[in-house]
Amino acid sequence: MEKIRFDGRVVIVTGAGAGLGREYALEFAARGASVVVNDLGVARDGSGSTHSAADAVVEEIKKAGGQAVANYDSVATPEGGSNVVKTTVDAFGKVDVLVNNAGFLRDKSFAKMTIDEWDAVMSVHLRGAFCVTQPALALMREHGYGRVIMTSSTSGIFGNFGQGNYGAAKMGLVGLMNVLKLEAAKYNVHINAIAPNAYSRMTENLIPAELAPKLQAKFNVPMVIYLCSEECRENGSIFTMGAGWYAKTAIVCAPGVCLGDGSRDILAEEVREHFASITDLTGARPLDNNLETFQFMAPLLKQ
Ligand code: NAI
Repeated sequence: MEKIRFDGRVVIVTGAGAGLGREYALEFAARGASVVVNDLGVARDGSGSTHSAADAVVEEIKKAGGQAVANYDSVATPEGGSNVVKTTVDAFGKVDVLVNNAGFLRDKSFAKMTIDEWDAVMSVHLRGAFCVTQPALALMREHGYGRVIMTSSTSGIFGNFGQGNYGAAKMGLVGLMNVLKLEAAKYNVHINAIAPNAYSRMTENLIPAELAPKLQAKFNVPMVIYLCSEECRENGSIFTMGAGWYAKTAIVCAPGVCLGDGSRDILAEEVREHFASITDLTGARPLDNNLETFQFMAPLLKQ
């Protein structure tokens, strides 16, 4: 089996001081990449900050003979995002791969959620991805090469009680990926989203402890490594995974039903009458862009 290598490649992993990010950083470095280990070193709820999280991972990489530098900026500000990329360029001259991974939780049922809890979680996940990806993508476009990962979550894709802020942010990342996959493809920059599952500090209150040995963070690493490799052509997809299970996950559109004739008014009662066919997912498939929805309306769009 030919090994996937990252010799000469420069990789940024945000939130790489712990959990999943740490595992990605260690593996990229072991496969020859120069790695920027970004981590603000916060508590589980995003409070506080320390350099020790990023420093420890950089130390680990160097001890194993790899190349890495630390960055301690918050991904959630434009200055922080720019500085993550500046640290990378100063140390290694370019950016080839960006894994947007940093984040934290402020779980609360929607009725009790404060605007601060909403904003904090939207900031670190969605705004954070904007703040780091925009300057990184600018360099990738210049060099005509790049691989970007957005870390989504099944909490947003499928739903999870008490995570309205987190679910919205994580699904927002899918929306951002869907647009960037179109905007960046011509520069040979591919962007995919992952929905990992791992027993980590973030999930230790959410996942039963007896599953910890099975849901190890390291089982999510191979998918990230492959998606970020030069040979992988995948662009604009979501992959759900955990414990060694990997599955493409998609938003699909059903064939649906055309009501009316394209000009007459359509009654709510007609929708009711055809609801079973409208909701039938037989033949549903993912679409590449929003204009593809027009093909389903084609019979109605004709003059
Ligand atoms: P973790 O809590 O172990 O690690 C997250 C890291 O991000 C921490 O080291 C933290 O200091 C850092 N961080 C937080 N805010 C930051 C900021 N503003 N700037 C820079 N770094 C910051 O969490 P875990 O489990 O490793 O999660 C990693 C990513 O995977 C997160 O985006 C999370 O939402 C996502 N995820 C995790 C799942 C799981 O099962 N563990 C499930 C689905 C998604």
